[in-house]
Amino acid sequence: MCGIVGILGNKPVAQRLIDGLKRLEYRGYDSAGIATLESGLLHVCRAQGKLVALQSAFDSSPIIGNLGIGHTRWATHGVPSEVNAHPHVSSKVAVVHNGIIENYAHLKEALIKKGHAFVSQTDTEVVTHTITDYLNQGLSPFDAFKASLKDFHGAYALAILIKDTPDTLFVARRGSPLVVGFGDGETYIGSDALVLAPWTKQLCYLEEGDYAILTPEKAMFYNEYGQSVDRPIKTISINADAVTKGGYDHFMLKEIFEQPTAVKETVESLIDPVSERLKLPVDVDWNAITKITMVACGTSYFSTAVAKYWFEMIAKLPVEVDIASEFRYRESPLPKGGAALFISQSGETIDTLEAMKQAKEMDQTTIVVVNVPESSMDRLADYSFHTKAGPEIGVASTKAFTCQLAVLATLCLDAAIKRGVLSDVEAKEYAQQLLNLPNEIYGILQKESDYQQVAETLKPARDALYLGRGTSFPIAMEGALKLKEISYIHAEGYAAGEMKHGPIALIDQLMPVIVLAPFDKWMVKTLSNLQEVIARGGIAICFTDRIGREHIQKDQIPTQIVEMPMTHLMTAPILYAVPMQLLSYYTALLRGTDVDQPRNLAKSVTVE
Ligand code: AGP
Repeated sequence: MCGIVGILGNKPVAQRLIDGLKRLEYRGYDSAGIATLESGLLHVCRAQGKLVALQSAFDSSPIIGNLGIGHTRWATHGVPSEVNAHPHVSSKVAVVHNGIIENYAHLKEALIKKGHAFVSQTDTEVVTHTITDYLNQGLSPFDAFKASLKDFHGAYALAILIKDTPDTLFVARRGSPLVVGFGDGETYIGSDALVLAPWTKQLCYLEEGDYAILTPEKAMFYNEYGQSVDRPIKTISINADAVTKGGYDHFMLKEIFEQPTAVKETVESLIDPVSERLKLPVDVDWNAITKITMVACGTSYFSTAVAKYWFEMIAKLPVEVDIASEFRYRESPLPKGGAALFISQSGETIDTLEAMKQAKEMDQTTIVVVNVPESSMDRLADYSFHTKAGPEIGVASTKAFTCQLAVLATLCLDAAIKRGVLSDVEAKEYAQQLLNLPNEIYGILQKESDYQQVAETLKPARDALYLGRGTSFPIAMEGALKLKEISYIHAEGYAAGEMKHGPIALIDQLMPVIVLAPFDKWMVKTLSNLQEVIARGGIAICFTDRIGREHIQKDQIPTQIVEMPMTHLMTAPILYAVPMQLLSYYTALLRGTDVDQPRNLAKSVTVE
């Protein structure tokens, strides 16, 4: 996904656009650029690479103007380069775009025949030349803008400057989010509320298919049918500090250490810390639900994989989980009276969003757990639950994940209580365990030196294996994903019981094996799998607790142990996720990779 920002200001905007892009860099960092309109002239400054390159380019040749747009790119069509960087300009138009114009090749061919000269490999450049072509035909700027939107198929968030319209910004949204902000004599546009936070908290979200004309004083909104519409202004309070590292070396480390607070705020938004009783913001009729289909991507998918165990074991409710990009195309016959639950930190991941739309068409009750209020999924769902993690900037998801699990655990309790399969006493015990999570996480974070030591073992590895059973199996997969995405070591999370069906052939001195074995009903069998690894010369590090340590020492299993606190069915996956995060962080540090902006990645993937 990419990041878009725009300012219709009453003072120069260029540096503020760049500052805004720095708050959007987590959305993509292959290249960046800004464009301003001043006295009928379009000025552009672009650079390949991260924002520091654009800042340097701007410092060496600044551009002027009180009206401008900016963009930070995650490449889809066309390699990361200056020529493919946005804004894309013609003699009359400057465009920044998030999304994909799917029919760009057809449009490009027709425009080239009409004499338009393309310089980039991007799909976005067809937007620039389509509008320019309509202007060349004599249409007014507004009519040229409107007409061009009808030509585009696919997803877009657009911000457009047209040379002959000073003090005006043309914006449109289809499939990619866009929010308008209102300041003191200025208006703003951004991909999310975060980028606008230092400037304003008065925000207006474009609905799907909307387009708008912005002036420094106001915004005029139109729906996809061209009808003038009002969009409510909401006060969204986002702490602008969220986009600073707060003294930590990386956003990821800051967000890992924010987990006690994030999980506390999340749990206490759903469970009263005094009465220890649930207080969900919406009343889900779980007795009307025959089966839950849970769908997500990446780390968020692993939270659904954990929730499957909880819902089936505690709430006795059948659950099917799937990754969104597969669910969308397998034509699953969802049951009438079913519920579809979607998990997303950003609330914008296109695979998950499209799966959600599909579930709605299949008459499923849609429930979403998101970290970004007013995100596309948040606005589309029948029921919304918010993780209270606060903005998560590091590309590797950490605090959002543990907060997702906390929400899912609470939803499971709600379902179990309403379905009459959990007594008040049992429910209270679970609630107490969840309310105590912040303290437990805090204690685990104090032992970071243990994880730094294990990172030394992982550092030279080309491959690594993470093993777990039951609710530890998804955490093994999550640990492997964390290691892959920020240290670039190939890692695989595997069901410990599956090792003997093939993967055990991989075991050798060169591939560290991380084993997750909290004291639960699966532990003894997991420790047997640990022994099978060691018996074949493998190097194993076992994350376990006091009871697990006693078993290992009694059986004299030669393995390195990282001791964890005692846990319960609902707390183990949440607590064991934390050392997995720190392990990947410290390994990445040792390997010198970019922790917050790993290569090829972006924080949320809004392209399919
Ligand atoms: C997690 O560390 C990754 N950055 C990625 O797998 C992420 O979880 C996935 O893209 C889903 O994003 P979402 O939660 O915003 O939908």
